[in-house]
Amino acid sequence: MATDFTEATATDAVVESFAKTPDLRLRKLLTSLVTHLHAFVRDTAPTIAEWQQAIEFLTATGHKCDDERQEFILLSDVLGISMLVETINNRKSGGATESTVLGPFHMVASPRRELGGSIDLVGTGPPCVVKGRVLTVDGRPLPGAEIDVWQANDQGFYDVQQPGVQPQANGRGLFTAGEDGAFWFRTIVPSYYPIPTDGPVGRLLIATKRHPYRPAHIHFIVTAPGHRPLTTHIFVAGSPYIESDAVFAVKKSLIAPFTPVDDREQAARYGLNGPFSMADCDIILQPEAKGPG
Ligand code: BEZ
Ligand code: FE
Repeated sequence: MATDFTEATATDAVVESFAKTPDLRLRKLLTSLVTHLHAFVRDTAPTIAEWQQAIEFLTATGHKCDDERQEFILLSDVLGISMLVETINNRKSGGATESTVLGPFHMVASPRRELGGSIDLVGTGPPCVVKGRVLTVDGRPLPGAEIDVWQANDQGFYDVQQPGVQPQANGRGLFTAGEDGAFWFRTIVPSYYPIPTDGPVGRLLIATKRHPYRPAHIHFIVTAPGHRPLTTHIFVAGSPYIESDAVFAVKKSLIAPFTPVDDREQAARYGLNGPFSMADCDIILQPEAKGPG
């Protein structure tokens, strides 16, 4: 190791300090991290005060975290890192449905509901039917696939953000696809909403004149034996902020029209008694990656 620290020797000295790391992947990650961080410091030449501010920002981000709030994930989200990691790890092939971020509002146990049941326990928003089929990449139905869905209400709040205002499990449901891989459920058209802004990430957005909004969407986690679990959304076509999601999670293929239907017969078929919107979205799962050998 060099005994004289200079700007020129700094990166090699730190990289070399990791040379004996037995876990080669850890060594690769640390080497790359240090190389990129040193390049950032050389490029921007932060003042001591600026570096102190950066440390204070990260400290505040840590202090904002608790069992319910994960400010570091939110930071990763607004920097586009969550979506980049998600996309690299779920490269789409053979027409499979694209993935997107999980977000902080997933509850591990969504209530199991019958096909056609409603996840809206309040009845104040614009009614909507979501239907589709869960299929393999070669178009075969996946009967018994599990479809876990959750969404904000028409005011842009998840049930867990409004305990005592919204009933528990409002906007959530776990469905099992039928013999033909088909599923459907009733709900309301969700609203766009802001990500939490009462912490350091909110201050970052203000300082950079960025808005905190996510376009309207419904979250899905879809699983079927022999297939890779899929975490995704369907986005409401035409929603405000569809072109500028605060967490960069929109993929064009995930935008679905929520088509207005004003037809008594169709409404009755879906257990509704007035105009509603209809979203049709097939979900295509990739086969599980084959292990070595
Ligand atoms: C969400 O869609 O629930 C979400 C995703 C990222 C950050 C905040 C919320
Ligand atoms: Fe969401």
